[in-house]
Amino acid sequence: MSTAQIYQLATTERKQQNRFRELRSLATTGGAEISLDGDRKLINFASNDYLGLTKHHELKKRAIEFTEKYGVGLGSSRLVSGNLNVFEKLERKVAQFKGSKTALLLPSGYQTNATVLAALGRKRTLLASDHENHNSITTGIQLTQGEWQRYSHNDLGHLETLLRKSPDSTKWIVSESVFSMDGDVSDVSALSHLATKYDAAVYIDEAHATGVLGAEGRGLCYDANGVDIAMGTFSKAFGSFGAYIACSNEMRHYLINFCAGLIYSTALPPPLLGAIDAALDLIPSMNEERARLLDKSETLRDQLNKLGFSTGNSKTQIIPIIVGTDAEALSLARYLEECAILAPAIRPPTVRDGEARVRVSLTAVHTDDHIEHLLSSLKRWKASG
Ligand SMILES: Cc1ncc(COP(=O)(O)O)c(C=O)c1O
Repeated sequence: MSTAQIYQLATTERKQQNRFRELRSLATTGGAEISLDGDRKLINFASNDYLGLTKHHELKKRAIEFTEKYGVGLGSSRLVSGNLNVFEKLERKVAQFKGSKTALLLPSGYQTNATVLAALGRKRTLLASDHENHNSITTGIQLTQGEWQRYSHNDLGHLETLLRKSPDSTKWIVSESVFSMDGDVSDVSALSHLATKYDAAVYIDEAHATGVLGAEGRGLCYDANGVDIAMGTFSKAFGSFGAYIACSNEMRHYLINFCAGLIYSTALPPPLLGAIDAALDLIPSMNEERARLLDKSETLRDQLNKLGFSTGNSKTQIIPIIVGTDAEALSLARYLEECAILAPAIRPPTVRDGEARVRVSLTAVHTDDHIEHLLSSLKRWKASG
């Protein structure tokens, strides 16, 4: 078989398994509605723009101001000549927001997990990682020289067994605070407690909690003592792009010296630094939006459960409608699209076999009418079948 045929075969197999992925071309996105090419409008239940900030005038304004002042790019990595003084100002703001000693800004959230974890996993290091952690975490751990062990999802007993048995001198517990595909949460305080007991450190991914959960949207690590590293992204509730690590001064120094994603990658561009700066000013004051979002999420979950849909253990704005087979998830997503609703089918390998789902992400900008339309469409789907 030729090289080209090998890759073609893999793609064909994906198609046969109902797991083929395709890019959709969108004319507009952001907010609660999007337009496909050709201008067909869909209600967007597929976005992580939880507070509706992607088009907020303050973020756009500050992005433009920073562009005018500093240009559109920084031309090199932060260690070479890209470390505009704005970074340190923003890092102080992030540290204050997260209640940490300091912070470090990096390019995307994916890059952060993949390369920070890679830097943490030295020889004789255990990385005990929740089974449902995001692909970026798994990728980072697989790049390490440490020992990767997965514990069953949110199973503190299993985690404790791994920690107790580990002969490694350094141990990390790695978890998300809000799980991206299930919308359930981890018990960050309990993880910290176990870490203290077994002399381990804790790494928490707050991608879906930052801006949405905790007092003033500070996430679930803010009040939990004993979290050594909280990472989060600016690509979800923060409305733009980029990521942060909230950590100690010593850890910041270590990462500046050992994290390839910081050392070998061009610094985040000024327009993004501007958008991040504006979002940091706005987000703590958005309690009303957060309360509305979480309230709507609870009501939607209740209604879905009443209609007989399983939403798993979701407790947040991420609400899976778990249907089982890949074909069923695809069929439901297609049906919803006919009803002018965008909610993606999520299939293995992203989720476990037999747990394919349509994933609904609510945002503060969804109206009651949007949610009502989703529910009535799902009701018709149930009735038909
Ligand atoms: C839990 C989690 N961590 C990290 C990331 C990556 O973040 P980014 O989109 O900023 O690369 C995602 C993205 O979906 C995520 O869900």
